[in-house]
Amino acid sequence: MTIQAVRGTKDILPDEIAAWHRVEAGARALFARYGYRELRTPVFEETELFARGIGAETDIVSKEMYTFADRDGSTLTLRPEATAGIVRAVIQHNLMNTDPALRVYAIGPMFRRERPQKGRYRQFHQVDVEAFGFTSPTIDAEVVELALAFLDACGVTKRELVLNSVGDQACRPAYVEKLQQALRQVASSLCADCERRVETNPLRVLDCKVPEDQAVIDGLPKITDHLCEPCRDHFAEVRRQLEILGIPHRLSHRLVRGLDYYVRTTFEVTSDALGAQSSVLGGGRYDGLVKDLGGPDLAGIGFAVGLERLVSLVPEAAAEPRCDVFLMPLADGALDQALRLQRKLREAGLRVLLDPEGRSFKSRMKQADKLGARYAAILGDDELAKGVWTLRDMARSQQRAVSEEEMLKHLKEKTNG
Ligand code: HAM
Repeated sequence: MTIQAVRGTKDILPDEIAAWHRVEAGARALFARYGYRELRTPVFEETELFARGIGAETDIVSKEMYTFADRDGSTLTLRPEATAGIVRAVIQHNLMNTDPALRVYAIGPMFRRERPQKGRYRQFHQVDVEAFGFTSPTIDAEVVELALAFLDACGVTKRELVLNSVGDQACRPAYVEKLQQALRQVASSLCADCERRVETNPLRVLDCKVPEDQAVIDGLPKITDHLCEPCRDHFAEVRRQLEILGIPHRLSHRLVRGLDYYVRTTFEVTSDALGAQSSVLGGGRYDGLVKDLGGPDLAGIGFAVGLERLVSLVPEAAAEPRCDVFLMPLADGALDQALRLQRKLREAGLRVLLDPEGRSFKSRMKQADKLGARYAAILGDDELAKGVWTLRDMARSQQRAVSEEEMLKHLKEKTNG
């Protein structure tokens, strides 16, 4: 039996990588324009960070984490998301003291032991954006605008922005109590998970996707009817600014998201083209999190994009050229000259390949074709005697004799190198 990739994980093959590079380069270029800088945190952290940060009763923490005992007895977890680790790093390095307008992003793999299906993996990748220290609704609108600008830059235009406010410590506890009372009346008619959540984490019931539960959930009290005045005002201002920016959105009082740290604004972007796992991006405000994890009372807001899902939505672009010129030293003794030229051309920024196995002329022409080489350069006995190469334009099937200097000049012009 050959060994296969672990269920729920996926190789990203060379033929697929161009789209990933485009998306990642697009993120870096765009985020820089908004003042964000990259931060890289480890892929594993102490388990407690996620239990405290994300919430022990969430699906992520209660059943989806890859947790293992380290040899010294400590308990470690592969990060299921980026926010908790970034907050840990912000606190540990006092980043808010040196950077009062702290905006960071991270790109990398996340791990959740979910049931694998289309668009849902056990190792997946996120582009994650976080801004710290801003309480004003202006940053909520800016972060949402940035999220959509990123999707625009990736060519993903068919999508829907869904928005909600989940209140804060002042108003949510009373709402949750009201919700719990209402839920207790109907608990026995809900799915087993929701029946349990009525007591452990009533808000999570609003997330439920089980079809039979939907009618009951739609009749439950809505958080947006129970916001305190500051939360109501904050939300109204976020929406007003989104309108000013020309960003349409749909309100959903059920958008509570799968992580417990959110307060006030939460949002998601969905796309029908993704199928059942329709959320390409999700985020929100998490003002209490930095303090809960032992830091100062620092506001925070951000979002994460799922890269597997995003890449599946990105319109196909022409593949990156693989080879500008394929060198074919055919004559005896031609290899040495070809190796020197290969090095020189690569130093000049050109993409150069040759066949190290020195197979037949026919085989090498086939390779050049398959590699999409724009040119083949042949050094046979005649060329060697005359001190030239035959440079063949593969698409036009035209060829001429050139010196090495002429070849370099010509290739640089033709490839904008
Ligand atoms: P999240 O909604 O759990 O939020 O994940 C964000 C995105 O990651 C989802 O919209 C989805 O595209 C992708 N994703 C999540 N799970 C999977 C999976 N199993 N397979 C493939 N893609 C997946 C967070 O992670 C928050 N940390 C976002 C955030 C940042 N909030 C504030 N700052």
